Formats: sequence, C-alpha cells, structure tokens
Amino acid sequence: MCGIVSYIGYRPAYDVLIKGLKRLEYRGYDSAGLALIDNQGKLNIYKAKGRVSDLENTIKNQDCIGTVGIAHTRWATHGEPSVKNAHPHCSQSGHLTLIHNGIIENYTSIKQHLLEKGFTFKSDTDTEVLVQLIEYKMLTYDLDLVEGTKSALKHVIGAYAIVVLDDRNPSQLVAARKSSPLVIGIGEGQEEYFLASDVTPIVEYTDQVIYLDDERIAVIERGKDLYISDLENHRQIPDIQRIDVELGQIEKGNYSHYMLKEITEQPRVIADCMRGRISPDRKHIILSAVIDYGYLLVKAKRIIIVACGTSWHAGLIGKQLIEEFCRIPVMVEYASEFRYSNPVVGPDDVVIAISQSGETADTLAAVELAKEKGAFIFGICNAVGSSIPRATNTGCYIHVGPEIGVASTKAFTGQVTVLTMFALALGEKLGALDQAKYEEVIAELVTIPEKMKQTIERNEVVKKLSYVFTYARNFIYLGRGYAYPVALEGALKLKEISYIHAEGYPAAEMKHGPIALIDKEMPVVCIATSNGQYEKVISNIQEIKARDGRVIAIVSDSDTQIRKIADDVIDIPSTIECLDPLLTVIPLQILSYYVAVLKGLDVDMPRNLAKSVTVE
Ligand code: M6R
Repeated sequence: MCGIVSYIGYRPAYDVLIKGLKRLEYRGYDSAGLALIDNQGKLNIYKAKGRVSDLENTIKNQDCIGTVGIAHTRWATHGEPSVKNAHPHCSQSGHLTLIHNGIIENYTSIKQHLLEKGFTFKSDTDTEVLVQLIEYKMLTYDLDLVEGTKSALKHVIGAYAIVVLDDRNPSQLVAARKSSPLVIGIGEGQEEYFLASDVTPIVEYTDQVIYLDDERIAVIERGKDLYISDLENHRQIPDIQRIDVELGQIEKGNYSHYMLKEITEQPRVIADCMRGRISPDRKHIILSAVIDYGYLLVKAKRIIIVACGTSWHAGLIGKQLIEEFCRIPVMVEYASEFRYSNPVVGPDDVVIAISQSGETADTLAAVELAKEKGAFIFGICNAVGSSIPRATNTGCYIHVGPEIGVASTKAFTGQVTVLTMFALALGEKLGALDQAKYEEVIAELVTIPEKMKQTIERNEVVKKLSYVFTYARNFIYLGRGYAYPVALEGALKLKEISYIHAEGYPAAEMKHGPIALIDKEMPVVCIATSNGQYEKVISNIQEIKARDGRVIAIVSDSDTQIRKIADDVIDIPSTIECLDPLLTVIPLQILSYYVAVLKGLDVDMPRNLAKSVTVE
C-alpha cells in the first residue's frame, strides 16, 4: 500500500518520478504528490487528490525543474484522501520533506509529545509526525539528517519505508525501511540513484539494484558510494543484484487493461513456471528447494499454509494436493488470524507462506511468528527479492512475471502450479504416491498451458454471458472438492472489480442455509467438471433449478448431462480432477473482467483496494 519513488542524479527528476508513480499506482491511488529541489536550491511541492494523472493535470503549466526529488502515491490509512493528507509531508521549518509507505503505530503519543514542544501539524497523517520528529531530534541534539533520522526511528513502532530530503543539502537522500519494501537502483558510475517500492520504476534505467534489508538506513549521494547501516551504525556491505524484469513485462502493450493482459498471459507464464522443473522425459519433478531440504520436509508432522486473499484460495487447493499426494495433514490459515491466535506451531511443522507480492504484512508477520516458534518456513512467492522470500528458510518462486492488475489472476494459477509440483515432489520423496499416479499427473500438467490457451480462446461465450449479468445484484458460486476454492476465487474476483456481492460455497452446503437465497434473480455459477463428485453436483444443480435459480455451469468438453439442465454452459478442456482449478478459474476471471468493463469500472484500480497490502 502506497508507492514511493525518488531520484537523485542528472536527469530531469520530474519525468523519472511521474513515470515511476504511474508504475506504482497499483499500490494506492487516493492521492499523489512530489517534491523537487530546483536549480536554485528551492524546494517545490506539488500534490493532488486522486490519481497520478490528477497530479499531472495540477502541475501541467509549471516548470518542475530539478534533478533530485521524492514522490508518493497514497492508499489512505490515517486521514481521508485529500490534498492536505497527500505526501510528501514537511517539517515545521519547511526544510525537511518526507515520503512514507507503512504505518507509524505509536504516532499519537509522539504527536502529543511534539505538540507539547510547540510543534504544529497540518495533516491528519502519521507520516507528518515522523518528519517532525526527525526535525525535533536534529534541532534538540544538533544532529545532521542521517543521525536525526536514526534517532527518530528508534522511537517508532510500526512499519515504514521512507525517503527524506533536506533542502539545505540537496545532494543527499536518506532512506530507511522496516517491514515495508524499498529498492535502490544504481545508475552508471553511481552518477544517479533511484529508490522505489519495487523495481518497476527502476527497470528502465538500470538493472543493478539493492533490496534494502529490514531495519536498515541508506545514505545516498550523487557520485558517491552508498552508505548502508543499521540504526546502531553497523555498516553493511551492499548486496548488488541484477533485476530479471524486462520493460515489456510491466507495460500494458495493446491490452486495454493489465488484468486482461495477465489473464491472457497464463498459458505462457505457466509454461515458464514449470520450465526446468519437469525432467525432459516428464517422469520427475525437479524443485531445488525440495531436493535441498527434502530431508527436513519429509519429517513434517503437519503442514500449515498461511496466506491472504487469492493466495489463501490457492492454499486451499494446496491442502488438497498435499493431503492427496503426501498424506500429511495440512491446515490453511488466514495469515491475519494465525498471527493473533497464539497458534500451536513448532519444530515439527512446516509452514508454507504463499504471497504474490511477497510483501503482505499479515503473511510476513505470520512467517516471523512461525519462525520464532521453530517451524521450517517454505515460501511460494512471485516478486523476486521481496520480504517474504527473504524471511523464509527456502521456497519456490512462481515466475509468472510482474502482476500489476489489482485483481490477482496469473499469480493464482502460478501458485497452484507450484503447489502441484511441490506436492508431487514431496509425495514421491515420502513414497506416499505411486509411480503411475506421479507420472500421470506430470504428463497431464505439461498439457495445461495448451489447454489454458484453448480455454482463453473460448472467451466470447463468457463475454456474451457478462452482458446478461452485468446488472445482477448478487451471485453465488458453487463447487465441491478441488472446485470449492475456485468458487471462492470466482466470487472474490467479481466482488473486487465489479462491486457485485458474490459468495462462494461448497455446493453441498447450499441446503444448510444459502438455498433460501435462490430465486429467478439469482445467478448461480456451478463449477461442475466431469471429475470428482459429478453426480452429486448434478443433484445440487437440480436443487437450484427446482427453485428457479439461473445456473451457469463450467463443464468439461466431455460433459453430457449438465449441459441439458443448466441455463448456460461454459466448456473447458477436460483434465484430471486435481488440475481442474488451473482451467476452471479462467472463465471466472474473464467473467468478472467483462462485467466490470461493461459497468464502466476501473478494472485495474478498483475502489478502496491496493495491490500490495503492507499494512495490517
Ligand atoms: O500479494 P499477496 O498474494 O500476499 O496478496 C494477498 C491478497 O491481498 C490478494 O490476493 C488480494 O486478495 C487480491 N486483490 C485478490 O485479487
């Protein structure tokens, strides 16, 4: 939540910052702002409520000169979205300017203290408190910006990625992080530096980056080596890494929305996700994390999956895969509930943390807690170098490329693909899975990208249906077994981008209450492939039809029965039951996409949401 970007170098900073903010806008879009120091050393601050484009409009007739600047796009936590609360925030003297991603939990007590010292505040934000605290430390103890920032941060409880600029020393930026991400890009000859919440604003200029470690502060000066240390002045040698993201991956290209691009990319990125992880003879899964740590994983008495949102839905599928192939009991926990539930977890447990962004605050906190209690932590993430993979013992990246649309699509299928390979690899190691089954699933898995392609090619059917249902007020999604988490995921997709109330249920649970909702106004999406409890799903559909519900069924090509009773059918290629979710989810993604488009909604930036939830 919130995106920050900063630049110091020789280019016009405004261009770098505005472009960077656009790339980070998926992280929050309630307001945007930037601060530049012009060639005369004057600090200029520009802010607007709303999107980055609103900021551009606000400042379009101004010069915006300068080669150093900081910028921010906000997802509001403390204080409503408004110009007053937009970052950057200034200290009382007006010399210090700061941008912040995260939450200062103890800001009320710090603010009270500063009020007593005569400070006044212009915004309702926690961030303004921090910049004032830095100034207070500098003034009271005669400290420079670096020491003042360190001193202030020692009092802060909460999460932050910050960049601070002092207009009395415009050749320096001071940055720090705790539990919120911050990447530093290093330009040629160290003549320029870039800072951002992720690599997307940086990739165009350099491929050399440092993922700032937690609880570190960085002093960045044009033409000089970076100075990185902890708050106690222990210097750290920077670990420079190469970014593996290309510009094309983060641009929308000819697609109208990132979400559509990402849905359409699934056949290719799922092939990428499997690349090198299935032996050429298609008889083995080669996951290096399972090879290296197999001796530990096989000893697990229990696996606990922690995740949020879509990643949690993938975790529910992971549970079924692991229990089926490994015969190890698996619990799937919302990370936010897990961390506060005094969980029974210890050295006999393996905890799998699933996260697209690798930055979700609750999932990261769940990982830290489980680690403290002695569990072995395995991460399944997408964003390379992000906080969760760095906090785990080992793991697998899903390698589906940057996901920018707020509604997660290709990350879900990537997570399910990795979970499938994980369950197969561990099941084989444990001897819990017979060789024929192991080889059958692998052989089928390699056909999935092509079947995904066929599924996407049929999107006209789904598009037509979306016209019919654009103005529905409620939806129910049903599935059994492997299809139940897909029902939850389909409902979440519709809710978050179409703002239509939708519920996912295990199909058999209908008769325990939700069936009372069924009438001719209620569209019911049934995930009803020919696998699993097919006959039982047919009975569930009959129950809905008997009450006049309108059934939209996702069926296998081979289906003969459901197409006779459902009102509408969406065909998908047949596969084996455990791989069905990789195909059945696609029409649900497409349905929610077109419903949102027809309603004229902003698919990639749905209201109230942000891509990466770095606050509790
Ligand atoms: O980055 P993560 O996978 O940890 O994110 C978890 C959820 O915030 C995320 O899946 C969210 O539910 C998406 N908006 C769903 O489309």
